[in-house]
Amino acid sequence: MCRNFLPDPLPDGLVPELLDQARRAPSAGNAQAVEFCVVTHPEDYWRLTLTPERRAEFPWPGLLVAPVLLVVLTDPERYVQRYAEPDKAHTGLGDGPDSWPVPYWWVDAGMAVHSLLLGASAAGLGSCFFGAFEHEAAVVKGLGIPSDRRVVGIVALGYPAAGRPSSSAARPRRPLDEVVYYGDPL
Ligand SMILES: Cc1cc2nc3c(=O)[nH]c(=O)nc-3n(C[C@H](O)[C@H](O)[C@H](O)COP(=O)(O)O)c2cc1C
Repeated sequence: MCRNFLPDPLPDGLVPELLDQARRAPSAGNAQAVEFCVVTHPEDYWRLTLTPERRAEFPWPGLLVAPVLLVVLTDPERYVQRYAEPDKAHTGLGDGPDSWPVPYWWVDAGMAVHSLLLGASAAGLGSCFFGAFEHEAAVVKGLGIPSDRRVVGIVALGYPAAGRPSSSAARPRRPLDEVVYYGDPL
């Protein structure tokens, strides 16, 4: 993840190309409920989420200059409706969002975001996925997003500049044999 960007604009057409790739990510029942709000004047986002006081001590000023922010959205109701259709009704997942042991609207958003990040990297861009945290309602209202959408997070896109890594990035990768279970029968 890149948290220090150059302010340079992105070439025309690149963002739609990346989003076209992201929307092809797999989705449960092919529900395709991940959506994106393109913010080409990122200040429209930052003024909703960063007060002047917080901005003064914000640890990643280089994130604020990224030329594009993509707010990643999902629509749980679309999953419920899809799984109420005849070919899926036997699952019981059409009864409501609380019926889902794993809420696939978040999973599918992760799949789409990762496609986006890979595409951005292949195009020579830096990107950073970050959360909206307590600002979800303000972001939805302030950017004119339909009120029933959930904000999964935001992808900042732009050309990378040198900068210090985050404290999380310093964590070493867990070794392969620590993250893989073979499920051998006892
Ligand atoms: C679901 C998710 C949420 C994240 N949220 C944030 C965030 O709010 N702020 C941030 O700076 N980085 C965030 N990150 C980035 C992680 O810190 C980063 O991916 C991790 O430290 C590994 O670094 P790397 O992606 O550069 O290898 C998030 C990553 C994921 C997958």
